Amino acid sequence: MSLLLVTGGAGFIGSRIVVAARAAGWDVRVIDALSPDVHTSQPARVDGVELVRADVTDSRALDACLAGVDVVSHQAAKVGMGVDVADAPDYVRANVLGTGELIAAMARARISRLVLASSMVVYGEGRYVGPRGDVRPGPRVDRDLRAGMFEPRDPVTGEILTPAFTHEDAPLDPRSLYAVSKLAQEHLVQVWAKETGGTAAVLRYHNVYGPGMPRDTPYAGVAAIFRSALERDEAPRVFEDGGQRRDFIHVDDIAAANMRAIEWTQSAPPAAARAFNIGSGVVSTILDVARQLARAHGGPQPVVTGGFRSGDVRHITASSARARSELGWEPTIALAEGMREFSTSPMRV
Ligand code: UD1
Repeated sequence: MSLLLVTGGAGFIGSRIVVAARAAGWDVRVIDALSPDVHTSQPARVDGVELVRADVTDSRALDACLAGVDVVSHQAAKVGMGVDVADAPDYVRANVLGTGELIAAMARARISRLVLASSMVVYGEGRYVGPRGDVRPGPRVDRDLRAGMFEPRDPVTGEILTPAFTHEDAPLDPRSLYAVSKLAQEHLVQVWAKETGGTAAVLRYHNVYGPGMPRDTPYAGVAAIFRSALERDEAPRVFEDGGQRRDFIHVDDIAAANMRAIEWTQSAPPAAARAFNIGSGVVSTILDVARQLARAHGGPQPVVTGGFRSGDVRHITASSARARSELGWEPTIALAEGMREFSTSPMRV
């Protein structure tokens, strides 16, 4: 049997990968720091697998965990937007230093297959088209946002642009500490692949939701924030005008994509890291999702506040055609069904 190491294997996504891998016949090992940001309980096992409680910045622990491993699934990360710049050392430590230690330890252990959890945040704003083709909008300015002008504009003509699906070769333009740290992880993994002859699949997750999602914290994604508000009988608070476009994807579809990517690393070209968008392909607005969740939960309808977060991008949705054709992966959980389940399923405390 082959052995898979899942870093962050006790987390929201990592734990679903552990379940999927065991169901597919893998032997699994888990390393997780059980960081108090997201874990208030301290499980000793994940789906029956004993976990090694250690940080991915701990090179000794990594050396011990990597013995005999065939593939690494690197899910351990500090997520979210970050509250302010005081969070910078934490993002750099957990995500950049953690990945640096991991690739060094993988090189020592001569492990050549890696799947990295990345994020669509590496793109910054999504793709936009104007009358003459693709246009890159400038950053949105606070004056426009305060006046309720949320749509990105053509920097030359001032025209409102039309959002389109982003492909993997789009320019990368990280806008937050988290996004910078995710892009740094991607670059580190590319260097590792080139220098060691390894193969990496870099999965750019879109907005993941599903059972076991952490409750709202300053670092939580919007689905968790809305769901937690409903649990308190409060209305979800929707920023801007609610027209922001995102792609919400169920955590079990993400786990399935990881399993395909793990298989892909066996036969894919060596000395390369290849990026894949992992989204459902379904475009939702934030207001749609808030309404669906409120209806399914049976709670108060959302309130559109008109407020905004200056680091937010307006629209980002992807084409996952590459993952479909090269990994042979298809999302299977329809949004309505997934949101219905999520609206009442337990969250992580
Ligand atoms: C999110 C995650 C990011 C992850 C990415 C892909 C966070 C903070 N962001 O990015 O880490 O990599 O998905 O999975 O975890 N909003 C509201 N009301 C709220 C909170 C947010 O309307 O109470 C709006 C925001 O203004 C934004 C949208 O919802 O327009 C999405 O927010 P969020 O999920 O936080 O961030 P993403 O940029 O989509």
